Amino acid sequence: SRTVSIAAIPGDGIGPEVVAEALKVLHAAAPDDVDFAITEFELGAGRYLETGDVLPDDELERIKQHDAIVLGAVGGVPGDPRLVGANIERGLLLKLRFDLDHYVNLRPTVLFPGAVSPLAHPGEVDFVVVREGTEGAYVGNGGSMRTGTPHEVATEVSLNTAYGVERLVRYAFQLATTRRSKLTLVHKTNVLTNAGALWKRLTDAVAAEYPTVAVDYLHIDAATIFFVTDPARFDVIVTDNLFGDILTDLAGAISGGIGLAASGNINPDGSAPSMFEPVHGSAPDIAGQQKADPTAAILSIALLLDHLGYADSAARVSDAVRADLASRAETGAPRRTSETGDAIVALLTSKD
Ligand code: NAD
Ligand code: IPM
Ligand code: MN
Repeated sequence: SRTVSIAAIPGDGIGPEVVAEALKVLHAAAPDDVDFAITEFELGAGRYLETGDVLPDDELERIKQHDAIVLGAVGGVPGDPRLVGANIERGLLLKLRFDLDHYVNLRPTVLFPGAVSPLAHPGEVDFVVVREGTEGAYVGNGGSMRTGTPHEVATEVSLNTAYGVERLVRYAFQLATTRRSKLTLVHKTNVLTNAGALWKRLTDAVAAEYPTVAVDYLHIDAATIFFVTDPARFDVIVTDNLFGDILTDLAGAISGGIGLAASGNINPDGSAPSMFEPVHGSAPDIAGQQKADPTAAILSIALLLDHLGYADSAARVSDAVRADLASRAETGAPRRTSETGDAIVALLTSKD
């Protein structure tokens, strides 16, 4: 049998609650000859408050030795004065995405039967946002001058490289050929003329190599309209880091809630482990109460299995989630976090 090593970073708030269920499902879905060996790393706002560490170098090195990473969520309670200036999100989550070259932030959206969309007529929602993960407004290219004065100046410059955009766009086109062969670039080329021109030009150039893929362009503001009025029009969406962040919370909302939205931070070249996490955050408002829906974390396990080459196991997890959502719609009763994990594990094991 084969051992696959997983670094688990449960994190803060509901992170540990949803990761516990995700790991149950990972073990239940594992192929017979594969053993998932989990190493937990206690990182996040909680760790920072205890020890002052955000992501020590030696721990980052140890995380990198694993085959894949599962992350819950990081981020402390809003307004906690002890966290002012700490920035766990940047020092931990973004540090991992950047250092491990997770340039593809893959965020699929499916409206499963039984999941309740707030849209009256959502149609067949099945698209994937290919969000850039290592550039854009997230790079920390900026600063503050005359801080705290009435004349403060703050900048946050979005960094876009031809190398970074082209590799992402190529991934998105390739993905489109495995789906409905439709790709939509989302940007703001009418105002962000420098970065916009780069994204548009490289998308057009790669499009020429994929004549079977239909290519479309939308400004980010108009894209949010169509997410609400006609989400079924989308197949693959390719966009920058910040637009992709915002669009994917909206995608979660229209497809049954943020508690269902999964993601993979992918290093397609395999030079470092990829990382799988729900799109949502630490949800301090419901943390520690077993109220969080672990489905997003569980669907992230399906992405992990697929990434590691266990497509059958991945499909079994998605099928179990699909069946669970359908049965939830019938009963309608509120569930504890662990009940959902247990229900999905039961569906997986009953099929054996
Ligand atoms: P959030 O996603 O944590 O919460 C937004 C809303 O969605 C809340 O009402 C929350 O209760 C609800 N929600 C989230 N996940 C849910 C689930 N699984 N089931 C049911 N309801 C769920 O976003 P926020 O409030 O903007 O951020 C809270 C903290 O999380 C911040 O510190 C933020 O920086 C951090 N964050 C971390 C990640 C991450 O680690 N990947 C992602 C987003 C936000
Ligand atoms: C997400 C989160 C992160 C992001 C934050 C917490 C850094 O919102 O994964 O969507 O903006 O990428
Ligand atoms: Mn986000």
